[in-house]
Amino acid sequence: MSENFITSTLNKKDQARDNSLRPSDFKDFPGQEREKEKLQLYTAAAKQRGEALGHLLLSGPPGLGKTTLAYIIANEMGTNIKSSSGPAIEKPGDLAGLLTSLQAGDILFIDEIHRLNNTVEEYLYSAMEDYFIDIMLDQGPGARSVRLNVERFTLIGATTRQGMLTAPLRSRFGMSCRLELYEPKDLKTIIHRSAGILGVSIDDAGAYEIASRCRGTPRIANSLLRWARDYAQIKENHKINKTIANAALEMYDIDSDGLDRMDNRLLEIIIKFYHGGPVGLKTLAVAVGEEDRTIEDVYEPYLIQEGFLMRTPQGRIAAPRAWQKLGLKPPANSKGIDHNQPELFE
Ligand SMILES: Nc1ncnc2c1ncn2[C@@H]1O[C@H](COP(=O)(O)OP(=O)(O)OP(=O)(O)O)[C@@H](O)[C@H]1O
Ligand SMILES: [Mg+2]
Repeated sequence: MSENFITSTLNKKDQARDNSLRPSDFKDFPGQEREKEKLQLYTAAAKQRGEALGHLLLSGPPGLGKTTLAYIIANEMGTNIKSSSGPAIEKPGDLAGLLTSLQAGDILFIDEIHRLNNTVEEYLYSAMEDYFIDIMLDQGPGARSVRLNVERFTLIGATTRQGMLTAPLRSRFGMSCRLELYEPKDLKTIIHRSAGILGVSIDDAGAYEIASRCRGTPRIANSLLRWARDYAQIKENHKINKTIANAALEMYDIDSDGLDRMDNRLLEIIIKFYHGGPVGLKTLAVAVGEEDRTIEDVYEPYLIQEGFLMRTPQGRIAAPRAWQKLGLKPPANSKGIDHNQPELFE
């Protein structure tokens, strides 16, 4: 059950459920203080000058608030926002249609921008930089192009894979913000706010229990809150406290470190089958029967942050904490995490 649950963080069907809990204001958006401060300054300055906001790239793992921030910014700027996604914009004509429908100052939000195809991406360059787009009409000797002017718009791109963006596209964004996994204290605030909206009773210790076991991800915090509500309602007929939250999470196969069954399987395979690694991502993906993209985007960020896993150029390595978790002694040559080491892969 928990595997489906975590994988579903990539499932766009969740978005309808997300919407009711989505804050529309910076003040209701706890966490990400540094990035939030940058964005508040960026929007305030553009607003004061009466100009369109510069193009903005938001990156980070799923469920951390990229889409939410795009909508908060539109709200802050008092502009319209149109939303599309990389794979949905198939042809230059699709892009032209979107761009020419924008009024001055409007925001175009492109989710999964790393999945734009090359042709469309090249058309986007001139639109971002010089606010026009040359569209080819016909093909062969009779081919001609028409230039369509575009109003001064703001592109907000979101991606879980900043490393997959081409350099020319990346360089055309005036600002880039990378969201990190959240601290439990911020998640607790988010859980209390969501509980208020959903009409769920939860005490502080119950909220903290969920906050510290939701992989640093607000979307998962909200899903677990809903699950704990169901559990409390059917099994306990009581408001959510620490004991109830704990029992609900256990039934969901989320352990005391916040790891689910798939996390544990990943660590077990690296340690038991590959003596702690290094193991290539593709091999690991086949071994656990999950897509490599999902392992990289959904599972690894939390395992790495919590010191269970390391990424090296040779492959994934189980960190000493993973050995200890399985009740095993780390081998003498098992490397500790060196936090000063730059991340080797995106
Ligand atoms: N800082 C926050 N405060 C309150 N709620 C948040 C915060 N960040 C995210 N959320 C909630 O988490 C859910 C997921 O957020 P959002 O859809 O913006 O994530 P995302 O980064 O766009 O994810 P994906 O990469 O899957 O598109 C939403 O319901 C949103 O309300
Ligand atoms: Mg999103």
